[in-house]
Amino acid sequence: MIGNTSIAPALKANLRLPLIGGPMFIATSPALVIAQCTSGVIGSIPALNARSTTALDEMLCEIEEALAAHDAATPERPAAPYSLNLVAHASNPRLEADLEILLAHKVKLAIVSLAAPQEIVSAVHAYGGLIFNDIISNRHAEKCAEAGVDGLIAVCAGAGGHTGNMSPFALVQELRAWWQGPLALSGCIATGQSILGALAMGADFAYIGSPFLASLEANTAPGFKEMVQRSDSRDVMVTNCFTGVNATFLRPSIVANGLDPAALSRPEGAKISIAGGGSNAKAWRDIWSAGQGIGAVRHVEPAADYIDRLVMEFDAARAALRSWI
Ligand SMILES: Cc1cc2nc3c(=O)[nH]c(=O)nc-3n(C[C@H](O)[C@H](O)[C@H](O)COP(=O)(O)O)c2cc1C
Repeated sequence: MIGNTSIAPALKANLRLPLIGGPMFIATSPALVIAQCTSGVIGSIPALNARSTTALDEMLCEIEEALAAHDAATPERPAAPYSLNLVAHASNPRLEADLEILLAHKVKLAIVSLAAPQEIVSAVHAYGGLIFNDIISNRHAEKCAEAGVDGLIAVCAGAGGHTGNMSPFALVQELRAWWQGPLALSGCIATGQSILGALAMGADFAYIGSPFLASLEANTAPGFKEMVQRSDSRDVMVTNCFTGVNATFLRPSIVANGLDPAALSRPEGAKISIAGGGSNAKAWRDIWSAGQGIGAVRHVEPAADYIDRLVMEFDAARAALRSWI
């Protein structure tokens, strides 16, 4: 067995729910992260959502000041920690510079996409930080474990953004055969019942992205929020045509950009572009990504109200299960 199980309780200290809000390119705003953390769940933001490395520094100061003000005002209900997301891929020219900012702020939890190089893991561990890596397969997880990450985020079929294609039941059972450390599960989790389901399967945290696209605080256009509310799994398609890697997109937004979802093709010689911006920015800014779980999202509302509902649903689901166990 690999992984340190004692880390999960330390991270859970100020949580109302075992929940991490997944980082979303463009869509996650500092206001959303602050709302998530002050509502008692871990909020996370992609470093690339700041337009420059200098702006990233300012953005982290803004988040930290808001969380400190919340803690001072309500010491009986301190904020959950926030997390910063780095994309460890050649298509991210800011990786090194953004890492310096993460280190300077001693961010408690770093979330790395793709595979965290050992140097990043060591640098985060040097100040006592934790590092979670998202993964889509058992092999991918093994590589991250070899690099020494503290936690794994299993991204399963139907997730928003760059998605996996495995069933969560299969992936969690394969991971739990050897990984004892913190495990977050993502892909279509949108209700308190599903959060409880993730724990029952063996995860320590649920990891939710798409439902927050419709939160008031999200940096998403009104049309995007409305499309999320109106859509369900039938409107979500997976394609590698925009970034070179499988990602979920809302079919109506592809049509609205004059493209035929059934006739998409990847331009000859196009480079894989995992790290958001650059030539494929249109794919995230104008062609909208969301996962299959959005059928549960029917309002635009403050993130705090959505999180309150998740807490109620989670508690009700727990109570309902008691008649079986
Ligand atoms: C619009 C959008 C943008 C995303 N951008 C990122 C990103 O920049 N970095 C990252 O690690 N994950 C990103 N994700 C994935 C989420 O963090 C999370 O893994 C996913 O949303 C979970 O699945 P769910 O949407 O079904 O809840 C993105 C997801 C969406 C919907």
